Amino acid sequence: MPDSSPLHQKLLPLALPIVTMSTVFVADSLHATLVTPALLYPTAVLLTANAKDRRMPWIVAGLAASLTVAGHYVPRDEILPTVDFLNRVMTVLATIGTAGLVQYFTRFKDRLRQEEAIAAAIHARNSRTEEKLENSLHELRDMQLAMDQANIASISDLHGKIVYVNDKFCQISGYARQELIGQDHRIVNSGLHPKSMFHSLWQTIGHGGTWRGEVRNRTKDGEFWWADTTIVPLFDTHDKPKQYVAIRSDITARKLAEEQLLEQASLARLGAMASVVAHEVRNPLAGVMGALQVLRGRMVAESEERMIVGDVLARIDQLNASLSDLLLYARPRAVHKAPTNVRLLLEEVAESTRADPRFAGVDVQVEGQDKVCTVDANLIGGAVLNLALNAAQAAEGKGRIQLVVADADPCCRLEVRDDGPGIDASVRARIFEPFFTTKPRGTGLGLPIVKRIVEQHGGTIGVDCPESGGTVVHLQFPLG
Ligand SMILES: Nc1ncnc2c1ncn2[C@@H]1O[C@H](COP(=O)(O)OP(=O)(O)OP(=O)(O)O)[C@@H](O)[C@H]1O
Ligand SMILES: [Mg+2]
Repeated sequence: MPDSSPLHQKLLPLALPIVTMSTVFVADSLHATLVTPALLYPTAVLLTANAKDRRMPWIVAGLAASLTVAGHYVPRDEILPTVDFLNRVMTVLATIGTAGLVQYFTRFKDRLRQEEAIAAAIHARNSRTEEKLENSLHELRDMQLAMDQANIASISDLHGKIVYVNDKFCQISGYARQELIGQDHRIVNSGLHPKSMFHSLWQTIGHGGTWRGEVRNRTKDGEFWWADTTIVPLFDTHDKPKQYVAIRSDITARKLAEEQLLEQASLARLGAMASVVAHEVRNPLAGVMGALQVLRGRMVAESEERMIVGDVLARIDQLNASLSDLLLYARPRAVHKAPTNVRLLLEEVAESTRADPRFAGVDVQVEGQDKVCTVDANLIGGAVLNLALNAAQAAEGKGRIQLVVADADPCCRLEVRDDGPGIDASVRARIFEPFFTTKPRGTGLGLPIVKRIVEQHGGTIGVDCPESGGTVVHLQFPLG
């Protein structure tokens, strides 16, 4: 780099070498010994080691060499000219060598300084990068925390195996984290959606696209939960999907509301149809029954005709019962509540069940204390009878049914327990759907009617299948 300092500053580093050289020159001229003092010239060159101007050692070396040569011509007696000549040749060589050494040394020093500066710059840059990295990591952690609070998240590998789930996923699915890691998402599949839906999902994300849809999942306990699901692939450095991130939000409440709306709409249609049925079918059916009863009365006792008409009458009775169920479900009557001893109510239900010849082999028991609740005795009695009939049918004419007034202050809790086969999880999910039945002659309206009655009382209904076997249906409503 060119030196831009003023001339007097440039010459300043020369002062000391010049004084040294002058001293040496004077000593050289005055003394005549075997070893000439001119050999001290290289020390003047050494004094330029810190000069900024890199040419300085060579300038001083040049001057020193000139003075060495000049010294040879200063007249002296005592010394042989040949020895003096040799001394001076050595001095010139030593001076030039020293200048070379000084130059080498200063270059080495410069390089060292440069390397130090580069190392310092690299260190500063690395510190800045580390700081940025630390900040980015912090931001990422904050974002993940926010996302984990708001969403149900999971990550799976290319084969669909779960490699990460957040706390919300564990909470809503009912599984512990270690039960989910390594499994695929079939573990939460509710079986509602067709295979083609999952096929198109894999097609989309496998080609790097984002899939979005509403999926019904199942908890570990067999309950259903709906999720608005978005699945996004994560790509490797070759732009190929390497993992899939699924972000879900819980929409179970919205789906239930939608289902209820649908149910209400279909109920309204059913109510209109029920009016037609009541008028167009039930009334003529009553007429047909009356006529058949008259005819039957005129027939010879024990005759084959009389038995056939009896059969027809029994079928019409059954038809009437189904129609009554349909009407009760489609056009529920108003509730008339009054204080009722529910234990006595259960005893009446037990009596009616025992009276049914189909359930002669079933042991029906009533348990629990007297308890007065303000309910519509007819509706609640009918509801418990419906449950007792379900229990007796499940027990296939044998076994034990318990009608229980359970301890549940400040509520009224009634339970119908049986030791039948229990209810499979897939059936249990649908038992409150109108017209869902597993029986050849069932209408599938029993439990929906019971649920309606309990809800009319501001209560709830639940079904448990304990590990010990059987089924427990429990109704719970406010005391009054
Ligand atoms: N105690 C029980 N044990 C086993 N399964 C039961 C029990 N209660 C109900 N279920 C199941 O629930 C289904 C629906 O019951 P629900 O009472 O609504 O209709 P249903 O008994 O089939 O017909 P309906 O009562 O209208 O004659 C039944 O078909 C049966 O599979
Ligand atoms: Mg039933």
